[in-house]
Amino acid sequence: MTIQRPRLLLIDSYDSFAFNLAALCRIAIPDCSIHIIQNDRLTINELLPLLKAFSAIIIGPGPGSPALAEDIGIVKDIWRLAEQDLLPIFAVCLGFQSLVIEHGGELRRLRVVKHGQVSEILHSGRDIFQNLDKVTAVRYHSLYAVPHSKEIEPLAWSDDGVENDKILMAAKHRTRPFWGVQYHPESVLTDEGGLHILQNFWTLANEWSRERNRRPRALDLSSIGQPWPHLESPKLPPSQTTIAPSVLTSVVEIPGISVVEICEMLGVDDHRSPFILLDSAANPGRFSIVASLLPTSLQILYSVGDTAVTLKRGKTVTREPLAGTDIWSWISRFMQRVEAKDGCPDVPFWGGLIGSLSYELGVHSLDVPLRHNRGDSNPHHDLNLVYVQRCLVLDSSTNKVYIQSLLPDDVAWIKESSHRLQALSTSTTAICSSNVHCASAQVKLPNRSHYISKIEDAQDFLRSGDSYELCLTAHTHLSVSRCLSSWERYKLLRRSNPAPYSAYIRLQPTTFLSSSPERFLSYSRPPNALCQLRPIKGTIRKAPGITRAHAEEALRGSRKEVAENLMIVDLIRHDLHGVVGLDVDVKKFCGIEEYETVWQMVSVVEGRLPTGSSRSDLGWEVLKRSLPPGSMTGAPKKRSVEILQNLEDEDRSLYSGVFGYWCVGGGGDWSVAIRSCFKHEPESEAEQDLDMENWVIGAGGAITALSDPEAEWDEMLLKLQSVLGAFGASKPR
Ligand SMILES: *[C@@H]1O[C@H](CO)[C@@H](O)[C@H](O)[C@H]1NC(C)=O
Repeated sequence: MTIQRPRLLLIDSYDSFAFNLAALCRIAIPDCSIHIIQNDRLTINELLPLLKAFSAIIIGPGPGSPALAEDIGIVKDIWRLAEQDLLPIFAVCLGFQSLVIEHGGELRRLRVVKHGQVSEILHSGRDIFQNLDKVTAVRYHSLYAVPHSKEIEPLAWSDDGVENDKILMAAKHRTRPFWGVQYHPESVLTDEGGLHILQNFWTLANEWSRERNRRPRALDLSSIGQPWPHLESPKLPPSQTTIAPSVLTSVVEIPGISVVEICEMLGVDDHRSPFILLDSAANPGRFSIVASLLPTSLQILYSVGDTAVTLKRGKTVTREPLAGTDIWSWISRFMQRVEAKDGCPDVPFWGGLIGSLSYELGVHSLDVPLRHNRGDSNPHHDLNLVYVQRCLVLDSSTNKVYIQSLLPDDVAWIKESSHRLQALSTSTTAICSSNVHCASAQVKLPNRSHYISKIEDAQDFLRSGDSYELCLTAHTHLSVSRCLSSWERYKLLRRSNPAPYSAYIRLQPTTFLSSSPERFLSYSRPPNALCQLRPIKGTIRKAPGITRAHAEEALRGSRKEVAENLMIVDLIRHDLHGVVGLDVDVKKFCGIEEYETVWQMVSVVEGRLPTGSSRSDLGWEVLKRSLPPGSMTGAPKKRSVEILQNLEDEDRSLYSGVFGYWCVGGGGDWSVAIRSCFKHEPESEAEQDLDMENWVIGAGGAITALSDPEAEWDEMLLKLQSVLGAFGASKPR
């Protein structure tokens, strides 16, 4: 039996752009379905009988070399298909290089690496380039293929001039139905060379199949799995009785109220108590969330490798075994039980989970081994969330404060809070500035020559084709006197570097201060939830005379900066396509935004979650599948993270993880933990140093083939400086 709809098999080589390619195929080939497998998932003998089920194969890009068995997997066997097993194949980048070298070609290294670079493609105007005029396309490669046999017919080149001369950009097999391109048709900046090429491929593939009367058959494809996009139902443990809360809300309007005053009213100065502030301290932030925690508020702690989650209510600590699920599903189930529907629609947060997820939690969810056993070396937890049942949300655009409670019959607290807020507005308590004279911090910067040698190591990996971009980071350690509380330090930070994703999170044993400019992922309330990611790449220091026009010229006019941003945009599109399917859109590409001390280049990528899904945790699923943030790893993500695990000396911990919330109404908002610092506070006072405390600040930058190591060191210091201000530490050299 044959099937009517075209069915494609996409073989992915652990790339971070595969879902973009799948999405492009879905648009180019009407009504097709796409199955995606990794290149080491099946042996060729397992795959052979299943090929009859497919109309064509797409071979995706990937890190590494087509000459290495562990990088290319099953792909090299595909080219040897016997005549009766043949089907049309379209190969991209690594796949394309494999096509050429498996037919007698040779692999070489580019003199000047092309990662995230746009080139004009010079083509013959025939075959897959039929009806195409000028083609520009994005390249991500450091290796290239040179055909030596008559079997491979070149179709396109790029002329790199003195850099690399002419480089092969597309080719076909003369007798078999194999085509390929070196560039990336699926990149957001590839125009005519993307969709049209795939449409032309499909026309040629159809002709080839019609001549042979070949049609895909209806076969059992269970060993390959469901077509993309496909969401597995989470393995949730049996749900306990639902405790769906109701949201009590009261609104007061208080002109001139500050979120700092609200925090102080709610007892932020009591340092033994947990405290949460998610602070929109600058544009484009709008809502600030202050939790009013109870002594019995539930704190959820987890570290990678734990078989149980730790639950703390005040002094009571219990462990709940994960019992066959993972922490992500455990949290999903928790949120399912407390789902609420009746909060005020104007407010993004009604109550729910707030806290942080570490970088290593993301590394683990990519299936990359961690460098240490978490138990010994991780004073912080990989997941540290608190269930917030009472909160005050300040809308800075209207001066309205929403007083909200999920607790039953909590009218008295709401009334009392409302009175206290009103009293704040009339009280004349001077907001005392912290004039305490503190000795300045002792700053232990990363070892400069060591860091620079790591940049050079990173560039070796870029040249060998293992990565297009590596975000290398290091920790700076500060030792400071306790003369200022962490809250006082936070106030200094928010004054010296106000940021839209600022935060003060005191969830023992960790205190975390943020002045992050970068939203990682937000998702609105279902149904029709919209996901938004706002990756930042490209930063320059503000200085007299550096106007917006200068910043635009320096960032948007720079091939290096745009390439870094482009790679992350393509990577994030892939992350989003992986969960939501087709509906992903780049709303803004390389926009310039102004912050207190820097100009930043920001892109905005949005995706709409599928309607009609029975799952209310799709935003959480996107988060799980997109960590760690691509802007903090580089691309392709998995290989880049593996390399960074070896290049960097310490766990990143909270730095470059995310912090934020998941609201009981279903929405969520998570920011990238950069321009931030954190400290560990031992639970028992006996273990504490009474005079000094130690803070950690992470900073780094994206290393590309175009990076100048000295300039990267300076960029790292620039990012560090935005936080060092809160510690009275002078400008690092
Ligand atoms: C800094 O790193 C270099 C190169 O790795 C090493 O030789 C040197 O000893 C280090 N210096 C310190 C103070 O650790």
